[in-house]
Amino acid sequence: MNKINIAIDGPAGAGKSTVARTAASQLQYVYIDTGAMYRALTWNAIHHNVDIQDEAEISMLLKKTDIELLPSLEGNRVFVDGEEVTSAIRSNDVTAAVSDVSAHEEVRRQMVKKQQELAQDGGAVLDGRDIGTAVLPDAELKVFLSASVEERAKRRHLENVGKGISSDLQMMMKDIQVRDGKDTERDISPLVQAGDAVHVDTTDLTAEEAAAEICVLARERIHQT
Ligand code: CDP
Ligand code: CDP
Repeated sequence: MNKINIAIDGPAGAGKSTVARTAASQLQYVYIDTGAMYRALTWNAIHHNVDIQDEAEISMLLKKTDIELLPSLEGNRVFVDGEEVTSAIRSNDVTAAVSDVSAHEEVRRQMVKKQQELAQDGGAVLDGRDIGTAVLPDAELKVFLSASVEERAKRRHLENVGKGISSDLQMMMKDIQVRDGKDTERDISPLVQAGDAVHVDTTDLTAEEAAAEICVLARERIHQT
């Protein structure tokens, strides 16, 4: 059977990683969390006291940084120069800085190249912000997931509560709105729905329902290919 590539884009908390992970597992495809790659670079910049606004410094750091994604049941395990940073890249510090790091043109150029190499043999599910528009413009299936900002903030808040991390719903909503703004308004590859993407609003769907819908679409595309 043919192996296709699947691009899943959308804002924070829309359900991208849940859906991408489930689809990859059901189809026995590789799941690539591109947001984790930008987070890993951001973590390394903070770790080395590199000014996140300095494009030349950040791009140079990226050239020297070995970012590795390994598959696991919960998603990608992430390593920076051999050190596991899977949890560390989800910290508030990294989340607050990642949209500034990912706005740099040279950073995006290098990241997109790495991501295209990871998907070059097909059979990959990538989630992020620019997969359908910039990384895999020829992906056989493109999905744009959305949900209301209230619902997305609630999901992230519940996720924190579940992990025993202190969390404030109003603050979460503010953080998500700020990040959405930076991601949609940046000059290079802003978050935008690709013209040929299927739009799925997950506001009133459970994670399982959203994932099942995408798996149906994926199987349809595989059979058409
Ligand atoms: O999981 P969450 O939605 O919080 O974000 P993420 O997917 O981990 O991505 C973190 C950040 O990386 C986003 O807010 C974007 O600024 C950036 N990103 C990007 O610019 N392009 C991508 N393909 C993926 C992420
Ligand atoms: O990757 P993204 O930031 O788009 O979202 P996610 O990490 O897949 O989902 C964020 C949280 O919302 C997770 O705890 C999911 O289980 C949950 N979720 C949900 O409650 N309903 C959905 N339809 C999708 C995700």
